[in-house]
Amino acid sequence: MTAGGDQVIRLDVDGKTIDLRIQRGTAGADGIMLGPLLAETGMVAFDPGLLNTASCTSDVTFIDGDQGILRYRGYPIEQLAEHSTFLEVALLLIRGELPAQSELEAFETRIDKHMYLSDDFRQIFSVMPRRAHPMATLGAAINMMAGFYPESLDPLDPAAVRLATALMLAKMPTIISYIYRRAQGNALLYPQPGQSYIENFARMTFQLPGERFEVPPEFYRALDTLLILHADHEQNCSTSSVRMIGSARANLYMSVSGGVSALSGPLHGGANEAVLDMLSYIRDSGIDPRDFMKQVKDKKAGIRLMGFGHRVYKSYDPRAAIVKQQAQAVLEALGVRDELLDIAQEVEQVALSDDYFIERRLYPNVDFYTGIIYRAMGFPASMFTPLFALGRLPGWIAQWREMINDPAGKIGRPRQVYTGLEQRDYVPASQRP
Ligand code: CMC
Repeated sequence: MTAGGDQVIRLDVDGKTIDLRIQRGTAGADGIMLGPLLAETGMVAFDPGLLNTASCTSDVTFIDGDQGILRYRGYPIEQLAEHSTFLEVALLLIRGELPAQSELEAFETRIDKHMYLSDDFRQIFSVMPRRAHPMATLGAAINMMAGFYPESLDPLDPAAVRLATALMLAKMPTIISYIYRRAQGNALLYPQPGQSYIENFARMTFQLPGERFEVPPEFYRALDTLLILHADHEQNCSTSSVRMIGSARANLYMSVSGGVSALSGPLHGGANEAVLDMLSYIRDSGIDPRDFMKQVKDKKAGIRLMGFGHRVYKSYDPRAAIVKQQAQAVLEALGVRDELLDIAQEVEQVALSDDYFIERRLYPNVDFYTGIIYRAMGFPASMFTPLFALGRLPGWIAQWREMINDPAGKIGRPRQVYTGLEQRDYVPASQRP
């Protein structure tokens, strides 16, 4: 509808008409600007789970959930997964453009230089219990960075933010490898200058005392690709948390550690671990996958098919399609035979032809097959979510930086519809029934 030349939406509330402006997008849904609603009508937008609420404009990532499209800065995920590297994708997300060769090399050198963790910092890995969940240690370690690098804290100083960006991207693989080694009771290794980001990460994680760490090139390529696939996913739960925390002008480390907390939940990043638990349960209990699916469909059992369904994708998750293709090839290259892959394929077949899943448009998401590849590489299930966090780090940083530089940005502060008791008077404890 138009009014006064501008396109607006005309809303009738209790006989009062108000005009709401439209925020146009370049692709996907436009937004109705609801800001004036409260002042004009005394009502707020009510949208639990923010199913239909755009909290910002963003140039970073585009998803079309109906068509199964995912693009970073305009580039299709399929092209990036095939041709790019994780650090190049990180630069693309954070800066907005693919870097020239010399820029990429300078960035890789900068990251290489910062992968080292000081002996003081390494203390955190000895004070945390060995059995602590890796996400608890990861969140604590990222928060701790704010104490170690005070020169990189000011969210409004671009040089400080660039430094925090490089420090976090560089140290995260080292931190995650140390979390794993500590749990295994192995000595912490140092990054080796000249090794690539992924090679350093894998070697620091898996090298055993007195042995060389040797894996086929497919191992590195698959790990790099999985990180690329996780690198951003627009305004998901953890990214929205990072933006929300940063909107209070919290520094980048504190904001990202909030994202790590959100990611740890089994409905978000924790799902890849939950998928493997589910597939292991099917194998160990000997239950027929079809009978397991009956339990999933019986809502009373309270079981969800982990790795299936997505808030945004209502057709096949394009990341899942890439991971599924890779799973078989990587297992072959590593000489691993895993019956969980067979079970996963069988479960998927059952689900894709079952009315319950078809009607609700539930398809495999990125987490359905990733755990099987990580497991073949030697990562235990508890490390899957930290690996997701490593992959998602560039996205969190890019989105935080976009938020902090947005002239229209405001501190995030949702409203509520209050449903509690109205005013009542205090009664001393001795007089309460
Ligand atoms: N298994 C069985 N039923 C499901 C599933 C599932 N995995 N997912 C959704 N449903 C049903 C749900 O019970 C509901 O049915 P009904 O309409 O009869 O009440 C309907 O489908 C819609 O579900 P919803 O919970 O309203 O959907 P949502 O958009 O709020 O939830 C989700 C999205 C990802 C949380 C959910 O699909 C889920 O719990 N999946 C399993 C966990 C998982 O794999 N998470 C990883 C997401 S991808 C990685 C990431 O971004 O973190």
